[in-house]
Amino acid sequence: MDGNGRWAKARGLSRSEGHAAGADCVRECCRAAIKNGVKYLSLYTFSQENWNRPEKEVDTIMALMASNMIKTMPEFEENNIRFKVIGDMDRLSPELREQIAAAEEHTASFDRLTLILMFSYSGKWDILQAADKYAAARASGNAEVSFDSCLATAGIPDPDLLIRTGGEKRISNYMLWQCAYTEFYFTDKLWPDFREDDFVAALDDFKGRDRRFGKVN
Ligand code: FPP
Repeated sequence: MDGNGRWAKARGLSRSEGHAAGADCVRECCRAAIKNGVKYLSLYTFSQENWNRPEKEVDTIMALMASNMIKTMPEFEENNIRFKVIGDMDRLSPELREQIAAAEEHTASFDRLTLILMFSYSGKWDILQAADKYAAARASGNAEVSFDSCLATAGIPDPDLLIRTGGEKRISNYMLWQCAYTEFYFTDKLWPDFREDDFVAALDDFKGRDRRFGKVN
């Protein structure tokens, strides 16, 4: 969800207003995903590195997370959307953690789309916490344990397509293990300007990719 800050600056608005506009975009993106048969949509909402941003900006993002969960719940119910948050929950306030757990529980049986907010997340963090779990499982005699099952994303398929908005062409510590064979799509569109037709353009581009997973055709 890159480009909220630049979108706001170009309009003489604050970065917080950019994030609020970015949060509004999530609902349209969910609708576009459903219309196009996408079953899992994960959004890189807040990285571990983002904790180093000014306190006021971090507070705004935490508040937007809380308010948008409430605002979007009717849409989750109406459209059968399962809501999940993945990241280091220990760094969140107890109130926000509880709110997230309640929203996840409330939507747990919905199955049209799974919306996953990657929040307080980084790929290296996930690999390290998985390595600890994996080592503990092996040490306790579980020789069959898979590394994937120890990741915070366990049970969620690896991404087929990663869309990066905002013109940058880097992975920024996102799902480093899970993106081994992910297709990448880069667009200059800033996240708050990323609309349904942009989403469809990315899916169309993806449909033309030749995915070999290291094999020959
Ligand atoms: C990246 O743009 C965006 C973020 C770090 C925050 C995104 C968070 C939200 C939209 C709020 C919470 C949302 C939901 C759905 C609950 P940037 O600030 O790096 O933009 P820039 O590159 O233009 O500066």
